[in-house]
Amino acid sequence: MAGAIAYISRDTDGQLWKKAFEAALGPVDFRTIDHLGDKADVEIVLAWKPPGGLIASFPNVKMIVSLGMGVDHLLADDRLPEGVPITRIMDDGLVGQMSEYALYWALRHHRDIDKYAASQRARQWKVEDFIDTIHRRIGVLGLGTIGQDTANKFAALGFPTAGWSRTQKTLPGIKTFHGADGLAQVLAQSDILINVLPLTRETRGIMDAKVFATLPKGAYFINMARGGHVNDEALLAALDSGHLSGAALDVFNTEPLPADHAYWNHPKVHVTPHIAGATNPRTASPGVIENIRNIRAGRPLINTIDPKSGY
Ligand code: GLV
Repeated sequence: MAGAIAYISRDTDGQLWKKAFEAALGPVDFRTIDHLGDKADVEIVLAWKPPGGLIASFPNVKMIVSLGMGVDHLLADDRLPEGVPITRIMDDGLVGQMSEYALYWALRHHRDIDKYAASQRARQWKVEDFIDTIHRRIGVLGLGTIGQDTANKFAALGFPTAGWSRTQKTLPGIKTFHGADGLAQVLAQSDILINVLPLTRETRGIMDAKVFATLPKGAYFINMARGGHVNDEALLAALDSGHLSGAALDVFNTEPLPADHAYWNHPKVHVTPHIAGATNPRTASPGVIENIRNIRAGRPLINTIDPKSGY
């Protein structure tokens, strides 16, 4: 049998991955975090939030696979073995879930559903003023696979949509911006701001008081990227001052969100437990299986990431 596949995650037991691998590759030597056996057998590591230094303890590892589309959880390990390629899952199912998440909260805000829910509780037949779709400006921070899908879906619904990325990108139907000046421009015209940036050295803490102040008054913030992008005090201050009208947050600086955190009971905040896009082995495994075949045949890998840029 070929080398072992080590499944390093405490979120799920990995059995669906094992089944997907066996269906495609035949019997596999599949080891889980508490049953790793002889570490020298491990050829491929699948990881989500691995304990620091664990991956470096596999002397023969040939490929590291991030079980999320984001790789910050992996690059947080400062002892990753040098020169071992890192790939990530690319999953259309997960991408679709992420854009659904953004669409759901944006439309709920855009159509005043929370106000109507409050009116219903008060038995009040009250019609709210509304803003035309063509006047509700959407801004998407991050134009990778998820950001592009999200921006395209908003544009298809008729929302004026802008996007920002570190390097210049051109997308039909989307106003694109890049760099520091571009960020201020996109913020100033985002009535609904959606964060899908990768978490890197450059983007950690990017959502600070200045960024929130640059958004138009009444803007709504959706974070489905990483909690580490956000300065929580700055966000709470922007909500409490009335500058922001609300926020839908799926990701947090500390997860699970601590029980005493101000977000839980904040009247303007919706909290979800990092579910915007769930890794689903059914849709995510084909790309990983292709890479297992590639690495074993000495062929180039797909979905590799650059540890220097952090995505
Ligand atoms: C989830 O957060 C992911 O990175 O896929």
